[in-house]
Amino acid sequence: MVNPFTVSLVSWHDGGPLLRLVREAVFIREQGVPEEMEWDEFDATCRHALALSLRGDAIGSGRMLMNGHIGRIAVLPQWRVQKVGTAIMEALLAEARGRHFKQVDVDAQVQAMPFYHGFDFREEGKPFMDAGLPHIRMVKSLLAD
Ligand SMILES: CC(C)(COP(=O)(O)OP(=O)(O)OC[C@H]1O[C@@H](n2cnc3c(N)ncnc32)[C@H](O)[C@@H]1OP(=O)(O)O)[C@@H](O)C(=O)NCCC(=O)NCCS
Repeated sequence: MVNPFTVSLVSWHDGGPLLRLVREAVFIREQGVPEEMEWDEFDATCRHALALSLRGDAIGSGRMLMNGHIGRIAVLPQWRVQKVGTAIMEALLAEARGRHFKQVDVDAQVQAMPFYHGFDFREEGKPFMDAGLPHIRMVKSLLAD
């Protein structure tokens, strides 16, 4: 079946306004992340994944720093558990492999760990608090791929 959405890799320059809509809805309004913590200097240099519905509405986001650090994976509530997050992660992993990164990592929200386990990310170290939410560092090796 053809997905009712698309995912593309974009720069912040091109995708910023649409990516902002998703991150504002999910991280700032839904999860209560302080606005000043959501936006940082890394957005300008990251590779971003932008998910769009077939109508062209922004429905999901993700980003990867050029050191392989993945973050800001978010899908609007009404689009969850329909593999949008999977498509975002696959796009970022393809980018990481294309750049010959040996591994990627994520500071995962503890509640989202099962999502990352599905891509063979493994916990490293102890949970910590960030933006008021429990997180844990998770790492995925790309060497065996
Ligand atoms: C986490 C998130 C991005 C997942 O996106 P999604 O589009 O719903 O994920 P998918 O449909 O691709 O799910 C893939 C698998 O992960 C599982 N999964 C997804 N989110 C999960 C969660 N929060 N807890 C447990 N399992 C989860 C799905 O059940 C699915 O399992 P399956 O392969 O056995 O069917 C989305 O729930 C979200 O935006 N949550 C709020 C923001 C957030 O927590 N972001 C992560 C920050 S670290």
